Amino acid sequence: MNRTARPLRLLMCRPEHFAVSYEINPWMDRARPVDVGRALAQWEELRRTLQELGHTVEVVEGRPGLPDMVYTANGGLVTPWGTVGARFAHAERAGEEELFDAWFARAGLGPVHRPVEVDEGEGDVLTAGEHLLAGHGFRTTRAAHDELARVLGRPVTSLRLVDPRFYHLDTALTVLDDDPAHPDVAYFPGAFDEPSRAVLRGLFPGALVTDEATAGVLGMNAIGDGRHVVLSARATGYAQALRDRGYEPVPVDLSELLRGGGGPKCCVLVLRR
Ligand code: ARG
Repeated sequence: MNRTARPLRLLMCRPEHFAVSYEINPWMDRARPVDVGRALAQWEELRRTLQELGHTVEVVEGRPGLPDMVYTANGGLVTPWGTVGARFAHAERAGEEELFDAWFARAGLGPVHRPVEVDEGEGDVLTAGEHLLAGHGFRTTRAAHDELARVLGRPVTSLRLVDPRFYHLDTALTVLDDDPAHPDVAYFPGAFDEPSRAVLRGLFPGALVTDEATAGVLGMNAIGDGRHVVLSARATGYAQALRDRGYEPVPVDLSELLRGGGGPKCCVLVLRR
């Protein structure tokens, strides 16, 4: 298959104020201090890689005391059908909400819907062609899916996450190709309950199904543009499976940002309008 890349417009945040000063997912361990210089260097490398692939990167200013703001995927949802801000599950991240809302408004991506339900943006809501796939179980709530369907006027497919290591949908599923004509995804079945696996099998019968070795290094948290897949350098088996499928894996080392529980996809929010 001839894979075609689609240029993406991405929002990122420099990890200047990055730290693991609280623990809100099983990857975070306060006892091991992070190296901010190293996080910054890895982040710059990710930005450069994305730009070299032809993507546009916009940057939102972080703020001291908001160490997780580097994970911009959680800052909201910017779709052709509307922009929705984030409402974080944990008080530690709530301060990010107004900063992202303000950035969206300044960038002309408003009006911004302020959600009533807990909604962690693109961390839990991914588009694959016509499908709006939404995770719940740890962060974004099931009720938030209904709110999104109402606000965006689009059907939302709810998927239940059951393994605390894979607490956001983007830690369990990669959108490889968002083209409505032939959307393609990869996912780790162990992250979902059985009814949700059945839904995924029904929607994507030809999907790439991955294993514990890939998901366990947060390999699923990857950025697909239809041709390239920017993924963790540790996910070597995944890179090979993608190559076999006609994709071009682009490995990046984000080991320092993994300490906060995030990979490449967590560090970008796709601006789709
Ligand atoms: N420490 C952050 C949190 O637990 C990591 C967020 C990762 N983001 C993502 N889209 N999976 O909220």
